[in-house]
Amino acid sequence: MATPAPVHHPWGRVAAGCLFLWACSAVAVVDGPGDDRRGYERPDFETRSRALEARVGIHGDLVARALEQHLGLPLLGFPASAPLSEERVALGRKLFFDRRLSLNGTQSCGMCHIPEQGFTNNELAIAVGIEGRSVGRNAPTLYNVAFLGTLFHDGREESLEQQAWQPMLHPNEMANPSIGFVIDKIASLPDYADLFETAFDGRGPDLETVPKALASYQRTLVSANSAFDRWYFGAETGAMDEAAIRGFRLFTGRAGCVACHAIEQDHALFTDQRLHNTGVGYARSQRREEPGPSRVWLYPGVSIDVSAHLIRSVGEERVPDLGRYRVTSDPDDRWRFRTPSLRNVALTAPYMHDGSLATLEAVVAFYDGGGTPNPLLSPLVRPLELSDSERAELVAFLRALTGEYRSLVLDAFAAPLGDVGVERRVPARPTEAE
Ligand code: HEC
Ligand code: HEC
Repeated sequence: MATPAPVHHPWGRVAAGCLFLWACSAVAVVDGPGDDRRGYERPDFETRSRALEARVGIHGDLVARALEQHLGLPLLGFPASAPLSEERVALGRKLFFDRRLSLNGTQSCGMCHIPEQGFTNNELAIAVGIEGRSVGRNAPTLYNVAFLGTLFHDGREESLEQQAWQPMLHPNEMANPSIGFVIDKIASLPDYADLFETAFDGRGPDLETVPKALASYQRTLVSANSAFDRWYFGAETGAMDEAAIRGFRLFTGRAGCVACHAIEQDHALFTDQRLHNTGVGYARSQRREEPGPSRVWLYPGVSIDVSAHLIRSVGEERVPDLGRYRVTSDPDDRWRFRTPSLRNVALTAPYMHDGSLATLEAVVAFYDGGGTPNPLLSPLVRPLELSDSERAELVAFLRALTGEYRSLVLDAFAAPLGDVGVERRVPARPTEAE
């Protein structure tokens, strides 16, 4: 994807050549890591992060957008007990970006599921939660999460309503001591006064309404109508280029990807929502710790070498991630992880449950080599013997799966931040720009 030349600007990185804020917002750069620390070893390193207050958003009509038919996806479904409404979505979005939902007011959902980074985090292989504690797994994208019935890398939850309390209570994520604690806190915040009651027929924040609101917002993060969708489901010849078309043939043919990353007759989620052993988890369990010192960058241009012994003494012990086994205790489930969707995969690096593969090229090379052999490896993963150009074609195909998402990112930018003492300026703009 072409990225406009960055310019230094008080509103962050905006497309070069735009003079007025209003004109800019429609073309503002809404993706890419803010600070991947490339060049951190140089003393003149300059951060690419943008100040949060500087992000300019445009509210979109999320409910109407979500309920539309999106080329390549089924119609959005939701539990009968949790119909979408504008009030619920707005409330869910407010909660999602509210740092006060964590024990010490520092961590919101949106800080691990970052809108401009594919609703995941491009800068971290594994997520970092409250007080810098490691979560041990890569944050998945939330695009199209409404269509998933198998949640988390080990598939331990089935619905967004069940899922939502986990990050809020996990000691390494938002670290709240109990559900009651969160509910009391929200009830005490004046800016939530009446919002729950209006959205939920008079009910205040409680065990059910908090996750329902969060789920409502997340269900609107629908993204399809990609080049692939227009070519395959829309019969638009020319929507996808030749290399990607050859990549599609490999994906559905000799490379065998479609066996797990499923494509149906009239839609494609690119996941069978099942759990498989591709060897990623096994590979990590076999990795030995580096015996020597590790270089730690303190600030641009300044590093120290820290001994492995010292790092062990401050960090938590790394327990191997056995995937589905953690849920079932069945030895055959060791290193099985859920097949992720591949929609928008170009936006959601790094890859796999542990973020161990940095690029799509690395992912394709991993499959080409037959995954990581282990006694429980899925028989569907085997050496492919692809040529260099075939590997590039598979990557081109994966890049053609990026759907429409810009209006969702701009809408997220317009959400209130829920920070102690920070009020957002939200310019009123009726239109949405994809
Ligand atoms: C510290 C970072 C962090 C925070 C904060 C966080 N998440 Fe996550 N999220 C993750 C990680 C990591 C996973 C994967 C965990 C796993 O598979 O065990 C995840 C998984 C999910 C999933 C499942 C997605 C899928 O494809 O299976 C959803 C939905 C989700 N988070 C929503 C939320 C919501 C809502 C909040 C706020 C209440 C939140 N997250 C806060 C890191 C975070
Ligand atoms: C046996 C089923 C299976 C087959 C076949 C398969 N995959 Fe996967 N794929 C998975 C699973 C499971 C994961 C997640 C593994 C993990 O998290 O450790 C995954 C992860 C990925 C990811 C990373 C997505 C992300 O968001 O992290 C990409 C990209 C991918 N596969 C592409 C492919 C391609 C291209 C092929 C064909 C060459 C392929 N897959 C074949 C099951 C499969």
